[in-house]
Amino acid sequence: MNMTILGIETSCDETAASVVEDGRKILSHVLATSAGMHAKTGGIIPEVAAREQVKAIIPVIEEALREGCRWKVGSGSPPIDAIAVTVGGPGLIGPLLVGVETAKTLAFVWGKSIVPVTHMLAHVYANWLGDNPLPKFPAIVLTVSGGHSDLILMENHGKFRWLGGTRDDTSGEAFDKIARYLGLGFPGGPQIQKLASLGNPNKIPLPQPMIDSQNFDFSFSGLKTAVVRETQKAPANKADVAASFQKALCEVLVNKTVRAAREFKVKSILLAGGVAANEELRKLLKEKSPVDTFIPPVNLCTDNGAFIASYAYFNYKPYPWQKITAEPDIYQAIKKYAKDQVRFHKT
Ligand code: KG4
Ligand code: ZN
Repeated sequence: MNMTILGIETSCDETAASVVEDGRKILSHVLATSAGMHAKTGGIIPEVAAREQVKAIIPVIEEALREGCRWKVGSGSPPIDAIAVTVGGPGLIGPLLVGVETAKTLAFVWGKSIVPVTHMLAHVYANWLGDNPLPKFPAIVLTVSGGHSDLILMENHGKFRWLGGTRDDTSGEAFDKIARYLGLGFPGGPQIQKLASLGNPNKIPLPQPMIDSQNFDFSFSGLKTAVVRETQKAPANKADVAASFQKALCEVLVNKTVRAAREFKVKSILLAGGVAANEELRKLLKEKSPVDTFIPPVNLCTDNGAFIASYAYFNYKPYPWQKITAEPDIYQAIKKYAKDQVRFHKT
């Protein structure tokens, strides 16, 4: 099937749009972010993020279409086959509404099909972008980001078995919280990574929550408590704290991913989500993985429109625009838009 899709992503603080051909070839990749504003407040204020989305959405889409298919404002409907938009799962309601309502309006005015996209499932498709070798099924996917930390068995396109996820903080939240505690900027992941490269990862004794538990769930809120406890006991070098924390967290993620890969006898392991940008995690997973490992380039790990378009190509299910609503909650999003694609599995 030959198809060009415009992907729109506004679930958090990025306003992103991309035109992607046949699910893999990125024709444009445009992104505006309000992260700088949230850095000043030490975290995302949803109302502020939503207002910035409103300002950025039309210029971002216009640029994506101009670059991706030489479209000009005023020249009528652009030469794309469909529009894909993040409807949630997860996301912040204000920012989501901006992308969803814009996409619906454009689909209506231009007479295009529209595909609602569940954000967490779309992250996985960063692994299909570009002309690298394709992952083989079945695959274990570790999705780690600000809004999600999950282990998924992917049996095929549109066939996801959710094995487990975090019981409290996500891995991205853990990075962000420790960064705030250490007085570093927001988002915390890149800051911790930078500082950790100067520290000793074996200096501070930290727990590795649930590393040996038989299920595929994670728990990261205790790590922050442990960091606070250890640093209050004795003054510690911040770089050593960052390095020790990063190592403890990455080892838990990799350990469980490898165990899932063995248990389900998969052919590939895929990494996805903003935290997949982390160098230590990428290195450790490659070292320990018993099968072919796929890790997207850093700029495709964090939120963007390209993986939204790619997901829609490989899971093409258009909806009448009138029936599309933003669904911030992941379970609601799956129930409404991806019920036939996701099975929940408990060991
Ligand atoms: O996927 P993403 O862009 O947005 C969500 O869907 O949540 O992920 C954002 C998260 C933030 O928590 C950020 O601190 C983390 O990804 N992150 C990193 C790195 N780059 C971004 N965490 C660790 N190391 C990094 N290099
Ligand atoms: Zn995301």
